[in-house]
Parts: sequence; structure tokens; C-alpha cells
Amino acid sequence: MSGVHEGRVTKPLLEVLAGKRQAIPPVWLMRQAGRYLPEYRRVREQAGSFLELCFTPRLAAEVTLQPVRRFAFDAAILFSDILVVPYALGQAVSFETGEGPKLDPIIDAQGIAHLRDRIDDNVISPVYETIARVRNVLPAGVTLLGFCGAPWTVATYMIAGRGSEDQRAARLFAYRDPVGFAQLMEILITASADYLVRQFAAGVEAVQIFDTWAGILPSEEFLRWCAEPVERIVVEVRRAVPQAKIIGFPRGAASSLVRYVDQVSVNAVGLDWTIDRSFAREQIQSRRPVQGNLDPLALVAGGSALDRAVDAVLAAFAHQPFIFNLGHGILPATPIAHVDQMLARVRGGAAS
Ligand code: CP3
Repeated sequence: MSGVHEGRVTKPLLEVLAGKRQAIPPVWLMRQAGRYLPEYRRVREQAGSFLELCFTPRLAAEVTLQPVRRFAFDAAILFSDILVVPYALGQAVSFETGEGPKLDPIIDAQGIAHLRDRIDDNVISPVYETIARVRNVLPAGVTLLGFCGAPWTVATYMIAGRGSEDQRAARLFAYRDPVGFAQLMEILITASADYLVRQFAAGVEAVQIFDTWAGILPSEEFLRWCAEPVERIVVEVRRAVPQAKIIGFPRGAASSLVRYVDQVSVNAVGLDWTIDRSFAREQIQSRRPVQGNLDPLALVAGGSALDRAVDAVLAAFAHQPFIFNLGHGILPATPIAHVDQMLARVRGGAAS
């Protein structure tokens, strides 16, 4: 999905991030490389552990490219995980099959003191090699995206030692020891900004900051632990890479999205599937390009429910700068034929 403009190939996703609406919105899917793809499952088996897959550039580059080959998405997203940052800060991290991530939980200030103050280059450098490999073979018109987790979301895993529904461990830590928690956030802000700058140096063209657990905090805490840290990363990255294009995804932020856009100078805002679309169009898309927000379960369901859901997303957002995506990551149960159906609908029937 590329156009030729003054002799050079334009990239629709980068055009949208520059504020230019595309007649057919660029499309990619969060977690587009993953278990719903048989070719991913094959490589995943070959790699041994999930972290080994993340840190083996030949294999990580291969799985990064798989969904682009199959679906001609407008973006390739680096195959890695948000938890490679705590790993490179010295925390023990592993992924047990079917159980999600396991970390050696940080339970007090001492746990924070044991972290490195910078990410270990020896650990993380394979990620940059993956980026360089993908960039070398990327089809024209496809944008290479890097990413990191937002400090709040990464901290929830570092403190609980695993995924949880209410993030009570991190919320309690922040109430009981705000000074210690702020120290952890400082480490994560510095590490994440460095990491993104290095990703740009290696060849990514834009990045997304995933704040999966932004929606769980009271509004004052949302500003302090979600919006402000992310803005500091954005400012820090642009000090090194002035034109850096950055997408923010504060999942579940709901009405706090307005203050997110007030405070965070990201180029586009990712919307989850629960947001009221007219609110998002009027209050958010009037100020910044948006990305989203198909319900991942509509993609699992398929059929006419999927067609209706795709149409509703397009009707709300396709008239202004917009990137079509899910409202959260694609689920392993998603049939591949439904992804094809969705793409045909987006690319064939968009308003122009
Ligand atoms: O989008 C992509 O295709 C790029 C790769 C990517 C992965 N994780 C690969 C992955 C990206 C961008 C992420 C981000 C990520 N990781 C987030 C933020 C986005 C979100 O989904 O909320 C979070 C919270 C994580 C942490 C994480 N990694 C969890 C909670 C889990 C277990 C849950 C699950 O889906 O299994 C992972 C594992 C993980 N990361 C897998 C993949 C493909 C599945 C593990 C496997 O293949 O064995």
C-alpha cells in the first residue's frame, strides 16, 4: 500500500503520523506476529524459549516479517517484548508456555537498588540487529515500528512478578512508598528513552509506547504515573531524534484521554475498543491522528458481526487522519480468514 510521490515511495503510515489523511487508511495489528499464525508457531518451537526468540536476530526478523508477507500490512512491528527492558536492567524474567511472564518480583526499595541504572547493551543489542535486518529487506511503503512499554505498565509486571487483573501490587507500592516508586519510574524513563533512541538509530521509522494498564489508576495518579513519564520519554527521544514519530497507547484511559493529549506530545493516540467513538472523534481526533479500535473479539467472531464492527470503526474515524488497528492485541484464537475479510473491507470500502 504505497504511493509514488515526487519520485519517492511514500509510506502511508508515516504520512498519517505527519497529519495527512490517507484515502485508504494504513492498517497493522497489535501483536500481529504471534500464535494465530502457523508459521509463527513453527519458528517459536524452533527457538526454544520465548526470550531466545526475542534475542536471536535471524528468527526475530523472520517472525517480524511473517504477517507483512501474509497480509501486506502497512507496518512491520519489531518482534520483541516490553519485558526485555526489566531483563536488561538485571531482573530475572522468563515466559512459561501458557502462563505468561514470570519475574522475580520487586517488593521493596532494596529490590529497586539491585537494578542496573542503565540497560545492559550486551543483553539488548540483538534487538538492534533484528531491526537492521528487517529494515534491509522491508517492502517499499511498509513502515518499521519499534516499541517499548510505558514505565507504569512495565512497573506493574516488575512489582507483581506476573500479570494481574487489578495491578494491586504496583498500586499499593506507589501509595506506600511513593519515593521508592518514583525512583523505579526514573530508571524506567531513562532506560526506555535510551532504548527507543537506539531503536531509531538501528532503523525503526516510528515507535509505539504501550501503556496497557493506564486505565486502572485514579485520575491524579494517571497524570503522575502514566502521562508525565510518557511525556518525559517523548521529550528525551526527540532531543536525540528531533523528528521522531511516536504513537501513544494508553489503554483504558477513557475520559482521561483528553488530558493525555493535553500533556503528551505523541504524534498519534491508540484507542482501545471500549471508547465512545463520537467522544474520541470530537475530543481526540480533532487534535491528533488516532489509531484503533476494532474489538479483537469481533475479529475472532468474523461473519457479519465483523463487517459491521469494521464499518463502525471506519465511519467514525476514516474521515480524518487515521490508522486502522485493533483496540488491543490480536488473540491466538483468531482465524486467519477473518483477518483477510477485515483487510478486504478496510481496503475496499473506505470512505474517500
Ligand atoms: O506486536 C507484535 O507482533 C510485536 C511483538 C510484541 C509481543 N509483545 C510479543 C509477544 C509486542 C509489541 C508485545 C507487547 C507486550 N508484551 C505488551 C503490551 C501490549 C499488550 O498486549 O498489552 C505486554 C503487556 C507484554 C507482556 C507480555 N508478553 C505478556 C503479558 C505475555 C503473555 C500473554 C500472552 O499473550 O501470551 C507476553 C508474551 C508474548 N509477547 C507473546 C508474544 C507473541 C506470546 C508468547 C509466546 O509466543 O509463547
